[in-house]
Amino acid sequence: MADIRFDNRVAIVTGAGGGLGRSHALLLASRGAKVVVNDLGGSFDGTGSGHNMADKVVDEIKAAGGEAVASYDGVDTYEGAEKIVAKAKEAFGKLDIVINNAGILRDVSFVKMTLEDWDKVLKVHLTGTMNVTKAAWGLLRDNKYGRVVNTTSAAGLYGNFGQANYSAAKLGIVGLGNTLALEGAKYDIKVNTIAPIAKSRMTETVMPPNVLEKLLPEYVSPLVGYLSSDQCGSTGEVYAVGGGYISRVAIVEAAGVSLKQHGPEDVASAWEKINDLSEAKPFENAMLAAGQAMQHVMG
Ligand code: NAI
Repeated sequence: MADIRFDNRVAIVTGAGGGLGRSHALLLASRGAKVVVNDLGGSFDGTGSGHNMADKVVDEIKAAGGEAVASYDGVDTYEGAEKIVAKAKEAFGKLDIVINNAGILRDVSFVKMTLEDWDKVLKVHLTGTMNVTKAAWGLLRDNKYGRVVNTTSAAGLYGNFGQANYSAAKLGIVGLGNTLALEGAKYDIKVNTIAPIAKSRMTETVMPPNVLEKLLPEYVSPLVGYLSSDQCGSTGEVYAVGGGYISRVAIVEAAGVSLKQHGPEDVASAWEKINDLSEAKPFENAMLAAGQAMQHVMG
């Protein structure tokens, strides 16, 4: 197996001042990538800002002999995203890899969630991922090459009590990635999504320390490295990753039924078969999924 290297590749890693983003940035830089280390600074709930976090990671990369520049703009505005991408262009002349990782938490039960909690979380995660990717998209198309790695969460894929805002934003990122993978295919732009689990300031209050010690961010970054590399042929996929465990996650559709009678009772009678996932399969795009229903109609 050839070494995976990023010589002559330029990467942006958002939210790279700590946790997973820092680890992704260190890995890419250690294998030759020139990295824009973006981090707004501030606390995990999206308040405050500062240069310290991004600067520290840039220093670490440089101390190890790598190349990096810091960026302090927020991903939550399009102007911020444009500045992040402009930084890559100014410092390194181009852009090949975008790792959308920046994130915040405003965990609270749905009944207590304020509209501001909803807006802020969607702005950083979902709109932030769109902002940076959109600002970068023209450069990636011009290159006829791009690797985009987005970050979702088990909370988005499966739901988690107290995370309505975060879950909605995180699953929105999967939907965005599904379509960008299709639109990027012609230009060799691959768009994949990770659902990580790792020790960070986000998880240190919700998981016991002995478990967290086995879930280092360094066990997640190798997947990000692979998905960012020219060896990666996959696109539009989602992978669960943590502590060395890596597994593809898919949205699947059951074989289903074709009702001949159309009352709610007919639905009730077929309920078991409708829910039977034993022959379930994923679809590459919405048209193929719609084709499944059309086949039933056509008989
Ligand atoms: P973290 O809090 O250490 O990292 C997030 C980083 O994003 C912080 O450094 C923060 O300053 C930065 N950031 C926040 N708002 C920003 C903005 N508007 N613009 C630029 N940077 C901003 O947490 P962690 O765990 O490393 O999270 C990284 C990503 O992984 C997040 O998207 C998170 O939702 C996701 N994730 C993490 C899991 C875990 O187990 N640690 C589980 C599932 C998802």
